[in-house]
Amino acid sequence: MRACPDHDTLGCPMARINRTWSEGSTPCDIMLIGEAPGKYEDKKGMPFVGKSGSELTHLYLGQCADLLRGRVYIANLVKCRTNEKDRDPNKAEVDACSQLLTEEIVNVNPRFIGTVGSFSTKWLLGDKTRMDKVHGFGYEYNISLFECKVMPLYHPAFGLHNTSMMRHIMEDFTRFGRMVRGDERVMWRGR
Ligand code: URA
Repeated sequence: MRACPDHDTLGCPMARINRTWSEGSTPCDIMLIGEAPGKYEDKKGMPFVGKSGSELTHLYLGQCADLLRGRVYIANLVKCRTNEKDRDPNKAEVDACSQLLTEEIVNVNPRFIGTVGSFSTKWLLGDKTRMDKVHGFGYEYNISLFECKVMPLYHPAFGLHNTSMMRHIMEDFTRFGRMVRGDERVMWRGR
């Protein structure tokens, strides 16, 4: 576990500064952006290595999207665990930490981004975005000279708390795999 070297420069309001490092090499065609590390991620310093991570790797990415985790760059919007109860990150934390994510996106230069959960989805597509309206649809994303395709995905943790959600998460990841493969069954929406 390493302390965040950017804590002061970013003006990070968090007390704890254990940083979870993103996983994958750059550049990478496929990027997933989660919310914030939990207990296991905080311990190991890597994203999605707890229960949600296991579901993400084997069920959602592996079986549904037909993608190996090693082909995907995995990052979080907020790089440090918020607290022992994993409360939602607040605006000041997101504003400070997402400066790192913006730099990462430039370096990763992905063709496809899956925003995993509502926090990264709102960060990328706008605060008013509603997960229940946008999940599983493809969006063309353009900002300055950067272009990529984005699909909002329900978060695997949702399925752990409510198993009836698993079907929806599985469908989202199946659609994400289709988007990456250029399958024409993907439904597109303007922003
Ligand atoms: N949930 C996330 O959003 N990110 C992680 O790394 C783990 C759980």
